[in-house]
Amino acid sequence: MHPALARLAERLARVPALGAAELEAEHVAVLGRKSGELTALLKSLATLPLDERKAVGAEANRLRAGFEAAFEARRAEFAAEAGRAAWRGVDLTMPARRRWAGSRHPVTRVGDEITAIFRELGFVRATGPEAESEWLNFLALNFPPDHPAMDLHDTLYLGEAPGPEGRMLLRTHTSPVQVRVLREGALPVRVIVPGTVYRKDSFDPSHAPAFTQVEGLAVDEGISFVDLQATLAHFARALFGPETAVRFRPSFFPFTEPSAEMDVACRICGGTGCPACKGSGWMEILGCGMVHPQVLANCGVDPERYTGFAFGMGLERIAMNRFGIPDIRLLYDGDMRFLGQFE
Ligand code: PHE
Repeated sequence: MHPALARLAERLARVPALGAAELEAEHVAVLGRKSGELTALLKSLATLPLDERKAVGAEANRLRAGFEAAFEARRAEFAAEAGRAAWRGVDLTMPARRRWAGSRHPVTRVGDEITAIFRELGFVRATGPEAESEWLNFLALNFPPDHPAMDLHDTLYLGEAPGPEGRMLLRTHTSPVQVRVLREGALPVRVIVPGTVYRKDSFDPSHAPAFTQVEGLAVDEGISFVDLQATLAHFARALFGPETAVRFRPSFFPFTEPSAEMDVACRICGGTGCPACKGSGWMEILGCGMVHPQVLANCGVDPERYTGFAFGMGLERIAMNRFGIPDIRLLYDGDMRFLGQFE
């Protein structure tokens, strides 16, 4: 028996016990084209005498087939083990985790609902800039020039030089968009105007220095206070539910006459009185009124021919009422534990 054959047979027997790296080294050491021991033996067959060459050649070829099969089998074991390792510790019966999904902010959601309700009534969306002039934010809306709202104390003025319509400021309400729409002169108008407004307030449970309003304006021939009441009562029931009680209280705004505030039964206590409604059972939802004839005239609209109503509401307060949110600051924090509760 050729001495190399005995050695190689022993090496073949050890293949099933080799580790992964050893296996690859052994493959090269035995079958490598340049330095493999079995390769060398096969190459040397030609130098052997004929009878020996036949016997050794047959045995060497058998060994080669054996090595190839053994290497292949051992590699397959390693691959299978790697596959099993990837699944170890995975419980296939465990329920899948819910996927992260975005959700609309409660203020966005309430705003979308409100504009949709008015869209069905024929109102179209209008917008205006957040930086406005004194004229548009106050004077065209019939605020007297010494009105306290115009005070530095309440309004954020911008440092720019005054323009043709006075100092520039951050709008304190969306009502300047009434003026912008009416000045365009296309009548009748029915617009709904969402937007951000600014006041010099600091944060507390019910105030924020920037918040969101939705303004509405309808101007046509023959519009009366009954149209205002019917429209807004319909709106309150569409938003808060068909059984919702509403009431109108007289109020005052420089740009409407007469003016009113609309309340709905408190959503948090259901009308029995709680801290959120200060014990009254009602929550103020919006300000409204018949557009003041002077405002129409300031915008080039003939007050003898046209009348209209306007209303404005704060979305944060409505969202708080609607969802029972006790502190306005929750709407600004971006805390996912809070926001994730809304669809
Ligand atoms: N602009 C008023 C406010 O910010 C709301 C309002 C709008 C009142 C339109 C009457 C008519 O408080």
